[in-house]
Amino acid sequence: MSEEKSSSEVQEERKVYFGERLREFQRRALEDPEGFWSEIAENLVWFKRWEKVLVWDPPFAKWFVGGVINASYNCLDVNLKNGNKNKVAYFWEGEEGITRTLTYYQLWREVNKFANVLKKLGVKKGDRVSIYLPMIPELPIAMLACARIGALHSVVFSGFSASALADRINDAEAKILITADAFYRRGKLIQLKKSADEAVKQTKSIEKVVVVKRVGLEDTPMTEGRDLWWHELMKDAEPYCPPVPVDATDPLFILYTSGTTGKPKGVVHSSGGYLVWVWATMKWAFDPKPDDIWWSTADIGWITGHSYTVYAPLMHGVTQVMYDGAPDYPKPDRWWEIIEKYGVTEFYTAPTAIRMHMRFGEEWVNKHDLSTLRILGTVGEPIDPEAWRWYYKVVGKERCPIIDTWWQTETGGFMISPAPGIELVPLKPNFSVSYGLPGVHAEVVNDEGKPTKPYERGYLVILAPWPGMLMTLWRDPERYKRVYWTKFKPNEELEFKIKPPAIYYTGDYAMKDEEGYIKFMGRADEVIKVAGHRIGTIELESAFIEHPAVSEAAVIGKPHEIKGESIVAFVTLKEGCEPSEDLRKELRMWIRKRIGPVATPEAIYFVSKLPKTRSGKIMRRLLKAVVSGAKLGDISTLEDASSIQEAIKAVEELKKAMGEEKKS
Ligand code: WTA
Repeated sequence: MSEEKSSSEVQEERKVYFGERLREFQRRALEDPEGFWSEIAENLVWFKRWEKVLVWDPPFAKWFVGGVINASYNCLDVNLKNGNKNKVAYFWEGEEGITRTLTYYQLWREVNKFANVLKKLGVKKGDRVSIYLPMIPELPIAMLACARIGALHSVVFSGFSASALADRINDAEAKILITADAFYRRGKLIQLKKSADEAVKQTKSIEKVVVVKRVGLEDTPMTEGRDLWWHELMKDAEPYCPPVPVDATDPLFILYTSGTTGKPKGVVHSSGGYLVWVWATMKWAFDPKPDDIWWSTADIGWITGHSYTVYAPLMHGVTQVMYDGAPDYPKPDRWWEIIEKYGVTEFYTAPTAIRMHMRFGEEWVNKHDLSTLRILGTVGEPIDPEAWRWYYKVVGKERCPIIDTWWQTETGGFMISPAPGIELVPLKPNFSVSYGLPGVHAEVVNDEGKPTKPYERGYLVILAPWPGMLMTLWRDPERYKRVYWTKFKPNEELEFKIKPPAIYYTGDYAMKDEEGYIKFMGRADEVIKVAGHRIGTIELESAFIEHPAVSEAAVIGKPHEIKGESIVAFVTLKEGCEPSEDLRKELRMWIRKRIGPVATPEAIYFVSKLPKTRSGKIMRRLLKAVVSGAKLGDISTLEDASSIQEAIKAVEELKKAMGEEKKS
């Protein structure tokens, strides 16, 4: 490719490379969005058809305006009528080996009963219900029961701490909290109810706490008048609850995610557009067939579980596996054993898990017959070509395409991924997400917002609204505008058939190759991905600063061979506080307690000052270079050059100390 080509010429060339059928889908979604989306939306059951497919008042989009729908009806009642009534919805397995099976009919019954329980507890349309449960069937049951009566669920990952839960309950002003007594992880008992109790102490809105007996813990603390057992409430619940018709533009749920400030963002998804999007994207990317067994390993506490363990697969009437346990317990082949046992055909997981299994060695995989697999998927962070090839060869035996799906909590569903449900384009391990799905008008731009040349790193932006996009941030439309829609302004070089009045900024680095295939290169903002979990550095820094000994903190992600990134913190202490090994341990525990075990820092470095610009901004870029041993680059904007020398020294000293510890 010659250097002289203008970016619009480059764009012209790129268009040529789309697969024929895929390109046709893209073209229709672009030129006739009304017709295109109407046709897709007709696959769902609407109580009233929409009047207008899209009302776009940038950056606020309303999809399927005038349409009336119910999510639980589409996931359950529809399957009772179309021949799936006695089909298995979930094969559930607990870490300790117990199993449960729920058919669509059984799931429908449980959801109806629990919806009636919620009604009895005073939950109404528009109310918020917080759910803090491990991966047990009661989790989708509770979510679908909320959806049935038009209440919003706010699921909080069961690995989050009490204070993270309290923050989310308070922001959503949830009335009800649903939790469990305890669960197992790697054989260890995790007392969830205890964390829930601690959280509720810090909140005002919770009226009742519903507790699922997951383990049957003898001494579960129950507060009189506030705490109720799930199974007791269900005993006398009425068996049928009519689905409440909601507007397509009514919110379906809130899901909190980390951003670039300390306060988690309450991402709000709609009832119409979101459902249409997850339905369509699952069809395009995984093309589920009636006898497929789908297993997505993500916890329902994250968006992946919401969209692809609850809403999309149930709407497609798919049979799923749901597993509540660690991937390597009691042995490293637990997952492969599960795939063999249930005959999983479509398997969806994260690069961090793939890398972990790579380390265990292929003999663990080869012990099992995985010949039922036909499609493999991945999500959560960039997959490196080495892991891609291992997954393709060792797990898929070179028979299964690797569907690398790029998306975000905010996008509701897959955005950029191969689409065998339409047309499978040739896959490239290094540009593994391939192209945008129909309706996703993605571009890679430079700092000026102009399209980049092939192999030039830039930011991924989306140029037009899509049905699955977030509606707003819970009670914070200004933040929604600021975070996603202000970084780039439309410009003429973004030559595009729909003149974009506003541009969605994803926060991700990406590049294209000369065929327009996309490669993701990690976050461009202050968000870290630890084992696929999204954690905000500022959130971590605020948690550090809350500790009485800490004055300032700078947190960065350090490349990690399994987890993708790990958390590293540089900390300055208050006058009179001395660095020590005990304090380091205490701070690690402090962060686990404030945020959760996923956020445990790998290293904490004590320094007397942080590298800052003259205007006082912490130069995380330099600290990143220090911990990864990269070149420092330009340090002319540093206010005090000795700060960086000190950081280098701190890293070296800790490395040395750890080396010595290992030796002894
Ligand atoms: C990253 C998870 C590369 C990305 C569904 C994004 C990915 C963030 C991929 C969203 C992928 C997700 N390749 N990076 N296939 N999928 N990401 O909200 O940085 O937990 O912005 O949603 O994960 O994380 P979230």
